[in-house]
Amino acid sequence: MKITFLGHATLLLELEKHTLLIDPFITGNPMVSDTISIKGLKPDYILLTHAHQDHVLDVEEIAKQSDPVIISNYEIAMYFENKGLKAHPMNHGGNRSFPFGIVKYVQAVHTSSFADGTYGGQPGGFILIADGKTIYIAGDTALTMDMKLIPMQHTLDLAVLPIGDNFTMGIEDAVLAAKFVECNKVLGYHYDTFGYIEIDHKKAKQAFEKAGKKLHLPGIGESLVV
Ligand code: NI
Ligand code: MN
Repeated sequence: MKITFLGHATLLLELEKHTLLIDPFITGNPMVSDTISIKGLKPDYILLTHAHQDHVLDVEEIAKQSDPVIISNYEIAMYFENKGLKAHPMNHGGNRSFPFGIVKYVQAVHTSSFADGTYGGQPGGFILIADGKTIYIAGDTALTMDMKLIPMQHTLDLAVLPIGDNFTMGIEDAVLAAKFVECNKVLGYHYDTFGYIEIDHKKAKQAFEKAGKKLHLPGIGESLVV
């Protein structure tokens, strides 16, 4: 499974036979240079953790290019279905088998509304099992005891955790989250994009190292293979 960081909370997952895009926010990201464009993105599926603008901004433009299936909570799925896009609704605790693998929509402690004020359901994260690997994409969330449920059923190969603080967990809580989900390999995201969420990269890496964990902070456009 090849995971490419496209800035903020946007991830491109290249699986053996399918391409998944998570939370596309590229055209509005001040950190993304001209080298990254939504033009070449033709995902088979788009997974959305919640409805905030910094997670769904480019969904409609990208969907025009490949007619993907949007996987998210019920309210977000209906929102995009009403705009003529294909969508698969889920809700917390639900597992679903797709042609690429299994997705579980799990709890996140955050909020979820569209930029136009439409209710975006309850926010979540995803457990994704595909190509023999299991990863956890936390979405925007606070540290929560619910994370302790995850290792009771899954052995994670990677945890994708927000680390920017202010709107989500900060570094200290993300280290605890990595302990809660019992995963030593962490991809940090949702940081530096806006002034509120700037972090000290060195301090962040050291905090994880001290806990015996490895924090990956790939540059925009860089990939990680799990
Ligand atoms: Ni958010
Ligand atoms: Mn966000």
